[in-house]
Amino acid sequence: MLKVDLSGAKSFFDAAGPDYAAAAAAHRTLAEKTGAGADFTGWLGLPQRVKEEELKQIIAAANRIRSRSEVLVVVGIGGSYLGAKGAIELLRPKPKAGDPQIIFAGNSLSPDSLSVLLEELGEKDFEINVISKSGTTLEPALAFRMFRGLLEAKYGPEKAKKRIVATTDARRGVLKGMADEEGWETFVVPDDVGGRYSVLSAVGLLPMAAAGIDAAAVIDAAIASFAAMDQRSPENPAWQYAAARQHLYRQAGKSIEILACYEPTFRYMAEWWKQLYGESEGKNGIGIYPASVEYNADLHSMGQYVQDGPRTLMETVVSFREPLTDFSVPFAMGDPDQLNYLAGRKLSDIARVAQEAVKAAHISGGVPNLEVIADKRDEVGFAELVTFFELACGISGYMSGVNPFDQPGVEAYKKNMFRLLEKPGVE
Ligand code: PA5
Repeated sequence: MLKVDLSGAKSFFDAAGPDYAAAAAAHRTLAEKTGAGADFTGWLGLPQRVKEEELKQIIAAANRIRSRSEVLVVVGIGGSYLGAKGAIELLRPKPKAGDPQIIFAGNSLSPDSLSVLLEELGEKDFEINVISKSGTTLEPALAFRMFRGLLEAKYGPEKAKKRIVATTDARRGVLKGMADEEGWETFVVPDDVGGRYSVLSAVGLLPMAAAGIDAAAVIDAAIASFAAMDQRSPENPAWQYAAARQHLYRQAGKSIEILACYEPTFRYMAEWWKQLYGESEGKNGIGIYPASVEYNADLHSMGQYVQDGPRTLMETVVSFREPLTDFSVPFAMGDPDQLNYLAGRKLSDIARVAQEAVKAAHISGGVPNLEVIADKRDEVGFAELVTFFELACGISGYMSGVNPFDQPGVEAYKKNMFRLLEKPGVE
């Protein structure tokens, strides 16, 4: 079970801790669907729904991809790829024998980046999972047109149809229309789930399962985790995190939250988290700015700023209770590098001590420290983190008074871009 430790921020709270009454009210608003954006809170019941409706078909599609392709090209942007990329980097950083390589395309318009992807693809057998709820997002739509062209040139138009899976709206949109017309296999991005909350649907699960992650274990752990966090008390880790960060923002002027992790494989989970919190809370002129760092590496690049720059930071550290593997420091005859004082100690133990040292230093520098501790870096730990951050985000958003489920600001650039590109019908 995931835990939150607020001890590193206690000097910022009074004896009762942060405002749990406000967290309780926000949780009620969310659960009873009485708040702004309630039509987009379907993610709360999503793991159960997926288990009942699509999970078997997702796993079957993933197994088919695994059995005949060396590469799966996942085309999508924002909420349509960050969760899957985060999961794969976290749980499957290196493909095992028989795992297809997962290539993520459609998240940029850079021709140079496309050319690197094409080089990586080479002559390998591949298929495409195109993911777009709206079906009209320019970056993935363009990439899909190009990769689909390659697929058809390689396998012929008919066989190519069996190598495209579209994950999109159940009824509407250009992509849905194309999928129906061409007979591609489809999966649904549910109406009541926004992109950034969709990782536990086919959006995230199909690429994850194709990469060799146990999607059924993720879903079972997510169901259990949401059930555990339905608890309405200050023991609820989602209340603790949401209430603490809102308190630090409003009462202590901590307007930037850095999400830190000591596992380099967490990098894209942090990207997923940044979208979740940035897009949910940054509106109406308010919102904590979500940033991320990768420790220990960034202690040597960002450490100075964190310790000693403007005191507007709070730090949330994600860790896992146990490593999956461990090493002991070897003894060296003559101690040439003067490290024999560590000989025989486990690397995980040294890492733990280093983490404690960083925590104490940052607290003494005025940076409140929130800790989020998941079990292992496996399917269960991943599901715990996703469900925890999603629930806490909904609660925190309602506590701050915004609609955490819309993203009107994202439309501004699209409008300008389509106008400048002279898209028909756009003024
Ligand atoms: O959270 C969101 O809504 C966005 O990140 C979208 O997922 C992203 O813009 C991609 O949109 P679509 O899936 O419609 O292509």
